[in-house]
Amino acid sequence: MSRYLITSALPYVNGPVHIGHLAGAYLPADIFVRYLRAKGEDVLFICGSDEHGVPITLRARKEGITPQQLVDKYHGIVKKSFEDFGISFDFYHRTSDPLHHKTASDFFTTLYDKKVFVEEVSEQYFDEEANMFLADRYITGTCPNCGNPNAYGDQCEKCGKSLSPADLINPHSQLSGKPPIKKKTKHWYLPLDKMQQEWLEAWIRSKEGEWKSNVFGQCKSWLDQGLQPRAVTRDLDWGVKVPLPDTEGKVLYVWFDAPIGYISSTKAYFENGQTSNIKPQTIGWKDYWCNKDSKLIHFIGKDNIVFHCIIFPAMLKAHGDFILPENVPANEFLNLEGEKISTSRNWAVWLNEYLEDFPGKQDVLRYVLCSTFPENKDNDFTWKDFQTRNNSELVAILGNFVNRTLVLTQNYFGGKVPQHGKPNERDQECIAAIQQAKKLISENIEKYKFREAQQALMDLARAGNKYLAETEPWKTIKTDEAQTATILYIALEVTTYLALLMEPFLPNTASKLNRMLNLEKTDWKNATGQILKAGHVLGAAELLFEKIEDEIIEKQIAKLNATKINQQAGMVSADEPKASDFIPTAIGKETTFDEFGKMDLRIATILEAERVPKTDKLLKLKIDLGFEQRTIVSGIAHCFEPEKIIGQQVTIIANLAPRKIKGIESKGMILMAEDADGKLKFVMPSEKINNGSTVK
Ligand code: 2FM
Ligand code: ZN
Repeated sequence: MSRYLITSALPYVNGPVHIGHLAGAYLPADIFVRYLRAKGEDVLFICGSDEHGVPITLRARKEGITPQQLVDKYHGIVKKSFEDFGISFDFYHRTSDPLHHKTASDFFTTLYDKKVFVEEVSEQYFDEEANMFLADRYITGTCPNCGNPNAYGDQCEKCGKSLSPADLINPHSQLSGKPPIKKKTKHWYLPLDKMQQEWLEAWIRSKEGEWKSNVFGQCKSWLDQGLQPRAVTRDLDWGVKVPLPDTEGKVLYVWFDAPIGYISSTKAYFENGQTSNIKPQTIGWKDYWCNKDSKLIHFIGKDNIVFHCIIFPAMLKAHGDFILPENVPANEFLNLEGEKISTSRNWAVWLNEYLEDFPGKQDVLRYVLCSTFPENKDNDFTWKDFQTRNNSELVAILGNFVNRTLVLTQNYFGGKVPQHGKPNERDQECIAAIQQAKKLISENIEKYKFREAQQALMDLARAGNKYLAETEPWKTIKTDEAQTATILYIALEVTTYLALLMEPFLPNTASKLNRMLNLEKTDWKNATGQILKAGHVLGAAELLFEKIEDEIIEKQIAKLNATKINQQAGMVSADEPKASDFIPTAIGKETTFDEFGKMDLRIATILEAERVPKTDKLLKLKIDLGFEQRTIVSGIAHCFEPEKIIGQQVTIIANLAPRKIKGIESKGMILMAEDADGKLKFVMPSEKINNGSTVK
């Protein structure tokens, strides 16, 4: 038996959690943990709310409440969402808890006493109006790396580069909006440069081939650039106070205290928890954190890689009492309907709202998310795919197989497991598929390939369906009851194994299926052969999944579209400064008033729109200029459905020389603005205006 300490990133509780969170750090960890528990391993699964840091204080300021009030509000909501979705933490703590403050404070003191830190007085940005130093996200400016004008003081979300406020071009305060002044202040730094040379680089490089390539690649690029000392304190009033004299107004940097949250959560588990029946009471938190036989594995999203693979290990090693992470299987990002999930733009599927719309369907979302985990690259969640996977996979394959097996057993054998005869070759093939699936699921979960593991589960249900289709028990029952008994016995064995193997992925469904089979949870380790006994009385059959109709999905899509429309109308405001993906192109060559004056720009309305056959991008538009109607061919078909733009007012260049495009004479050009993602938007008047009006 091995001992595992599994952590999922402590989420900032400045809002509820969405599908991107679930797919990144929580569901993969939960699948892994449930699998380890099923195998009887000693495993502790730890998480908690990250309640410090600038995202929290900014949000609290926006809501007009204190940071503590804000985290109190969302801690409960977030914790409940995780429970609702079966994320089976052994303990979910919070970093505003005194136990965490003490743990983080003691950790800092140990490093301070060991003279690990470099102490430095430097000039930092200060907002005179707000009378505050501008740490991290309190300051924004242009990213020196990619030109993103909305980069934060700690990171550019566009190119992912880690920044310090001093790196920003044209910095300005998020509090007053004004450019800051510089003021002297003292801080403590973790000398990562020194650590890189001493041991950190060699340790990380030893993980090549073992850590996922996306994770190792990011670490390598940090090392190649050369690590720099990192400040672990901030001039803020929200956080863990710096435990040194004369440090009023200084707290530990949130990324220093948050990972220590894993340690305090483990301590809290042993003080309050003891929920798991695997670990005897005598074992304490140190057995998980300080014993080299314990395996520490962090599940996170890609934006947290540097903190878990470089900075936290550096802290742990400098402290001296702790093991280092064995693995950090970070996921990339999940997008939603082709766009980046964004809290500020409300472009998300919130877990609490999902459950209101799909009560009892947690496992459907778990299944779909696992199928689309961004394991190696960003991936996309779409509502259509959600519907297809539910209807064509969960209902049509898994649910259908289980239902047919149980109903046929009920009809032919009174709901009792029949006595099987000697299996023939076809039967043996189906029996072999069971252990094959179990092996594949294990191997893939152990390699953090959860999508493939779940695929193997579904393949077993497929094999079961194929077996029933080929052996046709509904026909053999008329001629050969013994053969039918063998067929249904084997189908029931497949069903029993499905209940066992699906548990890490679909825990609610597994419980339901076990009830239908009238079985206790099967032991993974001992499940090496035949489980069912002839004569065992089965429970009542119910449907495992139900079809999701088009109108339900259309409602979800409409809900997202409404978000977009509200935003365009300015009804949804960004609730935190948001680094947009937009990088402006350079201004073009200078032109003259005369040249510009030659352009006759007019407002027009689209009357008709149709695709130009055999082209991807072209729409043939009939537009109304008030005084005349004309045809324009425009390369916008990839961005608009023709029927949806009828009645749209647009701006056109009216005096452009006509030209033939695909045999159609096009008179003029429609002006479009291009978004960061290449999507085109019409340039149009702010209010409806007479067609033919000039634009100056
Ligand atoms: O990115 C985040 O949401 C952070 N709150 C994650 C912290 S993980 C850990 F270090 F606590
Ligand atoms: Zn950038």
